Amino acid sequence: MNQTSLLKIMGIIMTVGLFGCSEPASFSSHEEFAMLSAQQQVQACSQQQTDRESTPFVSFDLGASRPANSGLSGLIADVQHRKSVSLNGQWQYLIDQLDMGDKGITMQGGVGLGQQALPTELLEYAFSDAARLMVPGDWNSQQPSLEWYRGVIWYKKSFNFNAQPNEKTFLYFDGAYLKKDVYLNGELIARHDGGFTAFNIDVSSYIKPGENSLIIKVDSRSDPAGIPTEYNDWMNYGGLTRDISLVSTPQSYIQNYKIQLDNDSGSNIQGWVQVQGDAGEVVINIEQAGIAQTIQVNDEGYGEFSFAAKVKLWSPQQPYRYEVKLSYASDQITSNIGFRTIQTQGAKILLNGQAIFLRGISMHEESLLKAGRANDQSDAQAAVKVLKDLNVNFVRLAHYQHNQHMIEAAEAAGILVWAELPIYHSMAFDNPCTLASAKRQFSEMIARDQNRAAIILWSISNETPVSEARNQFLASLANHVRSVDGSRLITSALFGRRDEMESVAENVGKRVLKTNGRNGKLVTLVPNPDPVTIVLDDPLGEIVDVVGYNQYLGWYVSAVATRVMRESDWDLTEDEFRTAMLLEMKKVKIESHLNKPIIISEFGAGAKQGFNSDKGHIWSEQFQKEVYLSQFELLKNIPDLAGISPWVLKDFRSPYRLNSQFQNYWNRKGLVSEEGIKKMAFHTLANYYRALENKDVSENKQIGASR
Ligand code: GCU
Repeated sequence: MNQTSLLKIMGIIMTVGLFGCSEPASFSSHEEFAMLSAQQQVQACSQQQTDRESTPFVSFDLGASRPANSGLSGLIADVQHRKSVSLNGQWQYLIDQLDMGDKGITMQGGVGLGQQALPTELLEYAFSDAARLMVPGDWNSQQPSLEWYRGVIWYKKSFNFNAQPNEKTFLYFDGAYLKKDVYLNGELIARHDGGFTAFNIDVSSYIKPGENSLIIKVDSRSDPAGIPTEYNDWMNYGGLTRDISLVSTPQSYIQNYKIQLDNDSGSNIQGWVQVQGDAGEVVINIEQAGIAQTIQVNDEGYGEFSFAAKVKLWSPQQPYRYEVKLSYASDQITSNIGFRTIQTQGAKILLNGQAIFLRGISMHEESLLKAGRANDQSDAQAAVKVLKDLNVNFVRLAHYQHNQHMIEAAEAAGILVWAELPIYHSMAFDNPCTLASAKRQFSEMIARDQNRAAIILWSISNETPVSEARNQFLASLANHVRSVDGSRLITSALFGRRDEMESVAENVGKRVLKTNGRNGKLVTLVPNPDPVTIVLDDPLGEIVDVVGYNQYLGWYVSAVATRVMRESDWDLTEDEFRTAMLLEMKKVKIESHLNKPIIISEFGAGAKQGFNSDKGHIWSEQFQKEVYLSQFELLKNIPDLAGISPWVLKDFRSPYRLNSQFQNYWNRKGLVSEEGIKKMAFHTLANYYRALENKDVSENKQIGASR
């Protein structure tokens, strides 16, 4: 028996010995999956993730010894208001491109154990201060050698900590991309999958007085069953991208709670509280509103409440927030809470009972102040400043949950928020593990932000192609989200069906044929085209409360359509087509039979900042502006329109964008360049919003006057 097989056996014995797991359960359908216990479901999904061919160098797989998403504890609310020690700063790192750090025969049990080798011992890893990365921060924008790196990096931080005897200690992450294995003092204590949601680990029994060693394996590679998949039009920055801290609580503590006005009456404050500790009382104090309420929690530490209250309402005009204090046993947390109601009434969105038009913009989580991911208060403040310059009252935070600083800054500034998770384009909609992951990540997202008055919309997907599997997946996800938080509106960004875009394109083509004088015979055959009406009939529209719709008339449609038409001998150029499209699209109608609010969640055009042309050059600032002006006309033809969030606030990195002359791996649809310079269309939209705002104010005055 050779040494490798001996080690392999040793490895397997060790794994089974440590965790005693039996043959992981398997399934071949949703139904079979539903029959499995929660623990079997987690095991089956972890098995799905770790199945990969091994190399002779693999002698064990420490990572596989613990199911995915295990070792985590219920998310603690409002950690920014709790006693905590930040672990941000410089961390040592090792690049592990072959993902061997927790498998290789010369890794002696794995990098996570953080061993020091004796001079006589062969150990093929060692951290050093030579290689360090800033946390929070993505690795791609910190090291030129890591600019496009997708793979595994091991992070290490040693820290001193002395827990107080009567305290619990939690390791809190506001988010890290993508899969993380967390080792504390040489033990694999938890694993988490999901690049944008917060999670925490109760480390009370793992942390020791004095020096501690924290090692985290971060794998930024996704997989076909993952969320997101590998294919998305943004940069999946890898690493410990957000704040990490050690949070202390008393042994009995308030874990999480939900508090808001009930949407129907708007005169009752309601919610629940979850404590970890014995049954007892939680007291809610809102001094500025003269409120002091005692809530009973049961043996599971859970209690619900609803009581009458007269409070100042949070709104974009008046983002007023109350200091809300919760006390339980010796624990106390305080948070700034805005009270508001959010509902729909037919095709209207009602904020505090009044119809509101959402003047928005979409944005990615990229910093305006530095390269890479935004991750701190100054990034958030910089973003809010530009949003305010744009006169928005609404922002779509795409396509994933953004960091806590951004939500806090938006709420303090009175900016309403659309929040989503990267269920984007084609996903493994027929895979129960993907659905389970989507539900878990939504629960995590809601657990962090459920008390944020600014968030009015949870979006369950973006531009997902219609299919039975997709419809079922999203219907199940919508039910889950409603069961976790039924107080907000559910939406999704649908996108134009091919035939709808073709009918618009055909009209434009006919218009060109009639006018460019080069299609003699053909012209006579073509009647005058009637304006196109796009009817939103995606079955997902039935499930959501608010229908989001992405359309790129003026940008993508022209490119595709011109090529198709030239193939059928229509003598026209893309330039002629685009010019005609800018006219024709003004007449396009967008309707639905759903009697629900419609948000045009994306429209736009690319432009290289500083590139000017009065000849309709498509990468010019002038062309981008023209597309916006035509879109504003189109918006008048949408009876159920309740808001817009054009694509996109700032140019952002994307591996999709290969035009080195104008894009250079940047998506150029931003209204602000990557250096923060406003393009022409920024002012076009800002002026449009200012006019809308003034109209709203005068109408509300009239409404106010007429009331
Ligand atoms: C899509 C998509 C975005 C993408 C944009 C674009 O609609 O939702 O993620 O960046 O179009 O093509 O620029």
